[in-house]
Amino acid sequence: MKITIGSDHGAVTLKDEVKMVLREFDDMEIKDVGTYSTDAVDYPDIAKKVCADVVSGNADRGILLCGTGIGMTMAANKIKGIRCALCHDVYSARMSREHNNANVLALGGRVIGFGPAGEIVRAFINGEFAGGRHERRVKKIMALESEK
Ligand code: RB5
Repeated sequence: MKITIGSDHGAVTLKDEVKMVLREFDDMEIKDVGTYSTDAVDYPDIAKKVCADVVSGNADRGILLCGTGIGMTMAANKIKGIRCALCHDVYSARMSREHNNANVLALGGRVIGFGPAGEIVRAFINGEFAGGRHERRVKKIMALESEK
């Protein structure tokens, strides 16, 4: 699986910890688009880079981190083709895959620590879309992108 990951200055440490979790998986290709220091950057710029890889197919999934995860989620969900889920518990992360077919996970570096974040990331990576009735609902979400 190919994952593109990015954070703003509010979650650089958690980004590095999440990358350690991603390395547990066989055949995991990780692309880190930054940021790499605690110097302030604007989270929409990072969201755009990660989501571009997901929409183009260069990444199977994306992971975005900022202080709360909220700004990244808002920015990502403005981009056509992105279904970004902000998850701070394992159940939501699993459901984001099974029911919503989320292709991007957002996390808040000032909200959760390494342990819970790792479990959330594992649930997001291992989760499979259930399809069925959820397919219809996800299609309806995506149809909203074309509405005025
Ligand atoms: C940056 O200070 C902070 O606003 C950002 O990391 C994020 O929490 C925004 O939603």
